[in-house]
Amino acid sequence: MILVTGATGRVGLRLARLLAGAGVPATAMVRAKTRAGRLPAGMPHLVAALEAPPPPDVLRRFDRVFLLSPTGPGQAAAEIVFADALAAAGHRPHVVKVAADGFQEPCCEVRFMRGHRRIAAHLARTGLPVTYLAPNLYMEDLLAAAATVRSRGALLAPAGDGAVGFVAAADVAAVAVRALSGEEEVGQVHLPTGPESLGLADVARRLSDACARPVRYAEVSPAEARRGMLAAGLSAWHADGMLELFDWVRRGGCATVTDDVPQATGREPVSMAEWLAGTRAAFTGRPPATSPLAWSPDTGRGSDVGRGPCGGRGPGAGGVDGMMGGWRSQGDQR
Ligand SMILES: NC(=O)c1ccc[n+]([C@@H]2O[C@H](COP(=O)([O-])OP(=O)(O)OC[C@H]3O[C@@H](n4cnc5c(N)ncnc54)[C@H](OP(=O)(O)O)[C@@H]3O)[C@@H](O)[C@H]2O)c1
Repeated sequence: MILVTGATGRVGLRLARLLAGAGVPATAMVRAKTRAGRLPAGMPHLVAALEAPPPPDVLRRFDRVFLLSPTGPGQAAAEIVFADALAAAGHRPHVVKVAADGFQEPCCEVRFMRGHRRIAAHLARTGLPVTYLAPNLYMEDLLAAAATVRSRGALLAPAGDGAVGFVAAADVAAVAVRALSGEEEVGQVHLPTGPESLGLADVARRLSDACARPVRYAEVSPAEARRGMLAAGLSAWHADGMLELFDWVRRGGCATVTDDVPQATGREPVSMAEWLAGTRAAFTGRPPATSPLAWSPDTGRGSDVGRGPCGGRGPGAGGVDGMMGGWRSQGDQR
């Protein structure tokens, strides 16, 4: 039986749907019973949090654990508490942990990746069998820029000419299915990416095509971006982390494209054009398409809409204003 943490989020919910659709026995862990309403019909759930794990007899029911939590200053501490609880339960479950590409590179000083590196070091100390998923940036991060694309026809970010191998959250979930499939996955590090490495000017061109109106990439300075993120309600911790991330992008840290999605799934990854075909309503304000990747205005908090640095806001919201992003922090959710 698989335990899925983060099961109401962007990747976890898609994973829960894939497992339920394939008839794979899985239980979702949710922090509040009310959140279980988002899960696939009939999927069992338990109520717990990473920092307040289920008791050992409950944990021992699960031989595989999908471990995901949102970015934030408390992320490493919470995942470490959970890892210790799994180790103390004594049955050595296979852990599939979501990290972020760069966590495995000691030179990557982005705090989000450093947090994952700290968790990975701790997991190594527990001796638990682990598989890592370290995706490139999610295409869904672009939804944070939707309001600005709609109102100003612009994609704002301090990303220079840096390219990103944007990956759809659906593909990260699909690779997770594979990672959870068996013993031979232990020790693997999957780096899911989309099929192409795109600068934000390339993304703006694809947005122009998808929306049938001109969209341009407008670079903003880090200082301007920070002011905007703070004004939009981000914590200083998170805003500074975003600047580190954009610096990493400018230096080419996110340009990686791998064949991990086709290797794990046997099909091509979702391309930016395909993803935009399903989500263009978010960028145009027109009714959503019927694609399985479609953006829907009624999915509420926890949907992709208005996530990003200013997470949890509605479709009309904008970050700096509406700068792309997606790395929400636990602190910012309080
Ligand atoms: N954004 C990107 O571009 C990107 C790229 C690579 C890697 N990542 C990594 O992806 C992860 C975030 O994935 P995501 O975007 O799918 O997350 P998400 O949509 O923000 O969902 C977070 C999930 O974690 C749950 N959660 C929050 N705090 C928790 C806690 N204390 N204990 C247990 N569950 C908790 C949430 O449940 P509730 O329903 O209770 O809120 C929700 O189900 C981060 O680790 C990040 O580093 C992100």
